[in-house]
Amino acid sequence: MCGIIGYIGKRDVVSLVVDGLRRLEYRGYDSAGIAYFLKGEIQLKRSVGKLSSLEAILPRNPSDGVSGIGHTRWATHGKPSEDNAHPHRAGTLVMVHNGIIENYLSLKKKLQDEGRVFTSDTDSEVIIHLVDSFYQKGLSLEVSVQKAVMQMHGSYAICILSKDAPDELVAVRSGCPLVVGVGESEYFVASDIPAFLSHTRNVIYLEDGEMVLFSPNGLEICDFKGARLVKEQHQISWDPVMAEKGGYRHFMQKEIHEQPRAIVDTIRGHVAQEAGEVLLAGTEEIGQWMENCQRIVIIGCGTSWHAALVGKFLLEEIAKIPVEVDIASEFRYRDPHLVKGDWVIGISQSGETADTLAAIKEAKTKGIPTLSICNVVGSSLSRETDAVFYTHAGPEISVASTKAFTTQLTALTLLAIYLGRRRGHLSEKAGKQLIHQLFLIPKQIEEVLAHEDRVADIARNFFRYRDFLYLGRGILYPVALEGALKLKEISYIHAEGYPAGEMKHGPIALIDENMPVVVLALKDKVYEKIVSNVMEVKARGGVVIAFAEEGDTELAPLVDEICFIPKVVSALSPILMTIPLQLLAYHVSVSRGSDVDQPRNLAKSVTVE
Ligand code: G6P
Repeated sequence: MCGIIGYIGKRDVVSLVVDGLRRLEYRGYDSAGIAYFLKGEIQLKRSVGKLSSLEAILPRNPSDGVSGIGHTRWATHGKPSEDNAHPHRAGTLVMVHNGIIENYLSLKKKLQDEGRVFTSDTDSEVIIHLVDSFYQKGLSLEVSVQKAVMQMHGSYAICILSKDAPDELVAVRSGCPLVVGVGESEYFVASDIPAFLSHTRNVIYLEDGEMVLFSPNGLEICDFKGARLVKEQHQISWDPVMAEKGGYRHFMQKEIHEQPRAIVDTIRGHVAQEAGEVLLAGTEEIGQWMENCQRIVIIGCGTSWHAALVGKFLLEEIAKIPVEVDIASEFRYRDPHLVKGDWVIGISQSGETADTLAAIKEAKTKGIPTLSICNVVGSSLSRETDAVFYTHAGPEISVASTKAFTTQLTALTLLAIYLGRRRGHLSEKAGKQLIHQLFLIPKQIEEVLAHEDRVADIARNFFRYRDFLYLGRGILYPVALEGALKLKEISYIHAEGYPAGEMKHGPIALIDENMPVVVLALKDKVYEKIVSNVMEVKARGGVVIAFAEEGDTELAPLVDEICFIPKVVSALSPILMTIPLQLLAYHVSVSRGSDVDQPRNLAKSVTVE
């Protein structure tokens, strides 16, 4: 996820573009860059780090032109560096890109064979070389872009400037957001409305497969074949703060709703659906090394540790590899017994958690190969491990982790399918089925999100309770832990996650009408057992809130509240079951008036012991 902006008009181009980038920084902030005109030449300024680093290198009165583009980056391909920062240049063209070009390696090879020289490790740079390869043949910029996008697979929102036409700008959208702002004799195009909301409230939403051409004659919108389109203009009524949150009340709510997109981005490029295979694109070495491993140890902290616990179920069941899970802060101090044939996986959203980093270093000193599952490209953990599997959740602003968790589960599922197929424990047919089910998940999450009001109602009924117990079994046990953690993190209610079968060995003593019990129940092999647990709670005067699968008529009469999720195979149920639990915690926190996005005493990334 990156933020892009283009401006064309008579005002100070550089300050408008920089101001827009500041409002897009929530989309990424590991490097930033801008292109503008001075004396007919395109000037490129790029800098690693936050936008302030870019501002520091901008000269006074930098531009005398009428157009400019800018980018704030969230690295996906290539570490944060000046060379990898946007805009990228080819010939007389410059470009900013948000998205992922899946076939960039083959396109890059072809372009290199034609003699083109690349200066970055990004997938984005191929776009501008590809466009330029047509442009150099004398085609117009519009047609060159249309021809280029026909060859590109993946997702993109792109903005392009040409030295030959300083008062023109082309932008295209496919799979990534892009909106046009229409001002008085000036235009904006950006990843999100806040980028220009203080200048105009008139917007045109671009759809996938559309491009916009800005020129002194105004703007034209067309499809990728050049057919002109008539689009409606809308008036935005949000205030700027609301707009940064996409109209949601909090970043956490926005990030919960981003999960379908985040999962699609994490799967993207990793799957050959027809063959029932997972491809570890860009991380092939993982598979070759891990294929014959004897045991995997997964470590993490907080939510990432919960993902690790789900990973154990996935890898053991699908790939038949013995897995141990450890909390990073425990692992690093207990002199773990690691032997040849072991692999250590560190899971971390930030890639900066001190305990996880130290645990990985501990494994490395014992000569054990390491892999990280990480959301932040170029983070310390990703550099420390021998190989990385990046999730593509995009920046997570809210302290409580949501989309990072479900994308970690997605990455672990992909890894399990990959290893299962390579080790011969998952047939082609079963692989295909699982991949097919995985592709359905984003849509199913949307179905769960559509019932947010139902969960909010439950939250309003229960937000005054002081203690909660979350029960799950098997692969849903870690999800119960995660549900309880979310609740305590943002609402300061004491909540415990427990494997349902263990309830009788202790927690049952706590049950009364003052401690709601959240039960996760799917029609799997332990369903009958979970129903028995519900009966045990009810027999002691307890209150049960159940999350069950659609069509479950058995459970409804036994519990106090019930909420349904779509039917899903067991391996993928943690992803889907997590969503209503995030919503429950969120709405309880809102009802209690807590600081949802920045809960007391917590930090997003814990870089100290
Ligand atoms: C902190 C955050 C948690 C997060 C944990 C691990 O405690 O508040 O939300 O799960 O760190 O962070 P990581 O970046 O390593 O996943």
